[in-house]
Amino acid sequence: MREWARSVSVEEWEGLAREHSTPFYAYDADVLRARCNDVRAAFSQAEVRYAMKANASPALLDTIHAERFGIDAVSPWEVRYALERGYAREQVLYTGSFPSDSELRAVASMGVVANLDALSAIDRYGALAQGGAVSIRVDLEEGAGHHPHVVTAGDESKFGLTLDALDEALSIVRRRGLRLVGVHQHIGSGLLTDAHRDVWLRAARGLFDVAARVERDVGPLAFVDVGGGFGVGYHEDERTVDLRPWGLALERERARVWPDPARRPALWVEPGRYLVAECGVLVARVSTIKRARDRVWVGTDAGMHALIRPAMYGSYHPVWNTHARTSPVERCFVVGPICESGDVLAEERMIPVPDEGELLVIGVAGAYGYAMASTYNLRPRPAEFFRDAGSWRLVRKSEHYERVVR
Ligand code: LLP
Repeated sequence: MREWARSVSVEEWEGLAREHSTPFYAYDADVLRARCNDVRAAFSQAEVRYAMKANASPALLDTIHAERFGIDAVSPWEVRYALERGYAREQVLYTGSFPSDSELRAVASMGVVANLDALSAIDRYGALAQGGAVSIRVDLEEGAGHHPHVVTAGDESKFGLTLDALDEALSIVRRRGLRLVGVHQHIGSGLLTDAHRDVWLRAARGLFDVAARVERDVGPLAFVDVGGGFGVGYHEDERTVDLRPWGLALERERARVWPDPARRPALWVEPGRYLVAECGVLVARVSTIKRARDRVWVGTDAGMHALIRPAMYGSYHPVWNTHARTSPVERCFVVGPICESGDVLAEERMIPVPDEGELLVIGVAGAYGYAMASTYNLRPRPAEFFRDAGSWRLVRKSEHYERVVR
């Protein structure tokens, strides 16, 4: 799946580069749809809420909308954009993290379900949104992820309502006249190993038990949202998770807790990375080759402002040359133009040293790539191209100088 971009010719990339300058992201619709199909097949009983924080490019949102998936949004701006792109209110879940009153007011005005994880937030939401629909995000002390920064449950995590506060949360819901429609958790991101899967399933089982307990107290819930976090292979020898065993195990647990299918709350999953990571690459132009001490520095016009994952989490992204080269492979450090030593895209890659002016491709960059891009050093964010039915179109230009400084 992640190999698609290796068969795009250098002429094709150069064509896009002529249409708009480098660096740019490029996405493939067929790969995105294939991953949507995988999730649908593995979790055949579930509704999918795409975690749009992973990539809110309009072309991706529209494609995912056509798949009839909903949205997991984490800010009022994400909610607003999802609604603008045609998602129905009922398809959008807002998951807040330490929300301000103005954020809660904005969410209430858009009429989506607010998924909250602090007593204060539930109470303040109740004061703002009389009769509003809420869900409670819990923390069952089971967390996992590819890096400590992306573990979202357990001791070190700011997320989720711990179970000792659940009764009080329910009494606030009652006192404020809110409607509790769901329970939720998300334990972390980049879950790739069998051990990760086991933690995720244990947490999901725990969440089903919490849901049953809440139902005994407040009545039937509309949904139980077990979160996302499914990992994809970045490294050449890593494989994207096969979600089918996850889905089967989940169904067995659901049937245990709710033997009567008619009484089961809907099951929601909210993958981000799994859907969009492999459909995207970042294409950058080599600007400067520098040999110093025992290193070959391959400088490109994309740096941590375009893709921050390597600098932020030490993440690995495959890198390859677009020109077929016969020169010997050398140990290359692929870096960007940003004024920080951490501005690294790839370390110690055994690739043929490219010539200045050639293009390099950085793979598996569809998730948390553009979404986390910035205008650091006043550099514009990259452009975005989208390929569907064999033809490319520019879906977002890079920013103008005026927009960056405005
Ligand atoms: N649901 C909630 C409430 C989340 O916070 C997240 C991700 C997801 C779903 C989707 O997780 P996914 O399926 O994409 O793993 N920037 C980091 C990842 C941060 C994830 C934050 N939350 C990275 O580049 O690895």
